[in-house]
Amino acid sequence: MTATDPDIEKLRLDFPILAQEINGHRLAFLDSAASSQRPRSVIEAVSHYYEHDHANVHRGVHTLSHRATEAYEGAREKVRRFINASSSREIIFTRGTTDAINLLAASFGQSIEPGDEIIISHLEHHSNIVPWQMLCERNDATLKVIPINERGEIILDEYHQLLGPRTRLVAVSHVSNALGTVNPVEQIIAAAKERNIPVLIDGAQAVPHQAVDVTALNCDFYAFSGHKMFGPTGIGVFYAREEWLERLPPYQGGGDMILTVSFAGTTYNDLPYKFEAGTPNIAGAIGLGAAIDYLLDIGMDKIQAHETALLDYATREISTVDGIQLIGTAAQKAGVLSFNLDGIHPHDLGTVLDHQGIAIRTGHHCAMPVMEFFGIAGTARASLALYNCRQDIEQLIHGLQLAIGMFRS
Ligand code: ALA
Repeated sequence: MTATDPDIEKLRLDFPILAQEINGHRLAFLDSAASSQRPRSVIEAVSHYYEHDHANVHRGVHTLSHRATEAYEGAREKVRRFINASSSREIIFTRGTTDAINLLAASFGQSIEPGDEIIISHLEHHSNIVPWQMLCERNDATLKVIPINERGEIILDEYHQLLGPRTRLVAVSHVSNALGTVNPVEQIIAAAKERNIPVLIDGAQAVPHQAVDVTALNCDFYAFSGHKMFGPTGIGVFYAREEWLERLPPYQGGGDMILTVSFAGTTYNDLPYKFEAGTPNIAGAIGLGAAIDYLLDIGMDKIQAHETALLDYATREISTVDGIQLIGTAAQKAGVLSFNLDGIHPHDLGTVLDHQGIAIRTGHHCAMPVMEFFGIAGTARASLALYNCRQDIEQLIHGLQLAIGMFRS
């Protein structure tokens, strides 16, 4: 796909929100790493559910409850196939990636003992730092951090040095939200597996952009969010191998996660329900299922090829802008351009670009340690998704030139 490829022009029509003008300009939406937009099929799947099928799941004998349950469990099966998990018992619906990581930290965390170690990387989003920090504080364990180099890449040799007899878990992102670095998760997982150490992959920034196969990866846990992959907000997925879910204690207590309750004690439900207390986000799961259908219809390989080509083009173009400093120049990158422009604060830049109809994120991107490593307070970040095209990049470059004219004249 290219800007002139009719495929991308046609695909953009699937996203009603992209058709509007913002501040009198064509909308160039370059903030999908924060939250992507939804195709009409997702919006329609959610409204169809509310208009025709809504009732609580797993609870009623009536027709609507059956329909809702079928649609909800159908979405779970779509997720299973999408990431190639062995069983839908391994798919837990959560509120998002953050919720999934907190689930693991609370549940797996109960077995963490003083002196145990958890390894994360310097590239992590706060959601894959803070839950582990909280756990380490609670249980007197130690958080170890894999360092990164000047390109924003994990230093694998240092990782190997950190693995030790007290390592209980490795938790790393698949793709960095702040820099776009694609981490060598295959190697990270293989090295941990040699020592029987379980691995969690935060896949929030990977799943919308490339095919992910949890069986081939051989990870124990994988987490991602619906809203970054063209689905609704408030829905996400925690994948865990069945043997882990059987062993781990539940995260939250309540309805649906039990088999029997009496004041003498409670027995827990089968998987995956043991980890889904309370009425779930039924509409969210159905919307996520529709988003998966949409992605598969296009093809993950085609999406990845399109975004890689667009990132190459954008990197070349932005590098020609006077005073640009690209932050994060990893050899393996997904569609993120993090940058600073000499003499212009990222927030000012973001505001000027917004006046031109260009949406980017500015600030620390929930990755303050990454900013600290580069000695900066924040960056401007343009992030790509399947609906972006060269015109978005041209608009961004034009906006940057305008900002330079305003602030440097
Ligand atoms: N994690 C989201 C981002 O990178 C919010 O912007």
